Amino acid sequence: MITKASPIAVFDSGVGGISVLKELTALLPSENFRYFGDSANAPYGTKTTEQVLELTKKHIGRMIAEGAKAAVIACNTATSAAAEVLREMYPDTPIIGIEPALKTAALLGNHPRVLVMATPMTLRLEKFNRLLEKYQDHGDIHLLPCNGLVERIEAGKLFSADMEEFLAELLAEYILDPVDSVVLGCTHYPFVRPVIQKLLGEKVKIIDGSLGTAKELKRRLESADLLNTDDTQGSIVFENSKNTEEVIDLCKRLFSVEI
Ligand code: DGL
Repeated sequence: MITKASPIAVFDSGVGGISVLKELTALLPSENFRYFGDSANAPYGTKTTEQVLELTKKHIGRMIAEGAKAAVIACNTATSAAAEVLREMYPDTPIIGIEPALKTAALLGNHPRVLVMATPMTLRLEKFNRLLEKYQDHGDIHLLPCNGLVERIEAGKLFSADMEEFLAELLAEYILDPVDSVVLGCTHYPFVRPVIQKLLGEKVKIIDGSLGTAKELKRRLESADLLNTDDTQGSIVFENSKNTEEVIDLCKRLFSVEI
């Protein structure tokens, strides 16, 4: 039976969704969370839409069947590929996704120069392209598919020389010709925010969509009368398809990293 104490499923292709989980637990400290990362199959962003749809259906479906009262797809790529289908499959379960915070960036200042970093799949699919159509006249918007970045973050070496070199090459054009803001359109990327900030300069505003997702989860729980209003601290369980001690340790370490 679903109760207010039932867990909230949080899902990502790997460890990236922990950046969203941090925001969820900050806003909803009494809730019980079950985080599942599919690191064995990461990255999702270079797979086919059908592959990501099937993997996301499988994992979220299992967590709902096992008693989750709501599900957060803490992955821009999986949200683009699967959120609509999942909402049709589970009309009684609040299912919240995440999308690149382009609206926030585009409406900040006068015709800002904005860089959107995301996976190739997120930038290709209809969901993002509808969003882009809506806001493209508000600014000078540049799209940067970041192949290879998720794999590096999954490896857990966030502040290595290799990471800095990789990002310097990826961002070369924008180091020379600065932008006003950067949208982190993949939930893995907030973990390397300090490296991106250092390369692009302190003036650049770096934006992600986690807070919007957390607020939407709260609204949806309230309207379904599922918000846990206990005074006690909720629990967090980390699970991963790799199922090794190393990956669970990485999850815990990332959860405590300041982003
Ligand atoms: N965290 C996922 C996202 O937000 C990364 C997808 C991937 O595994 O490529 O898009």
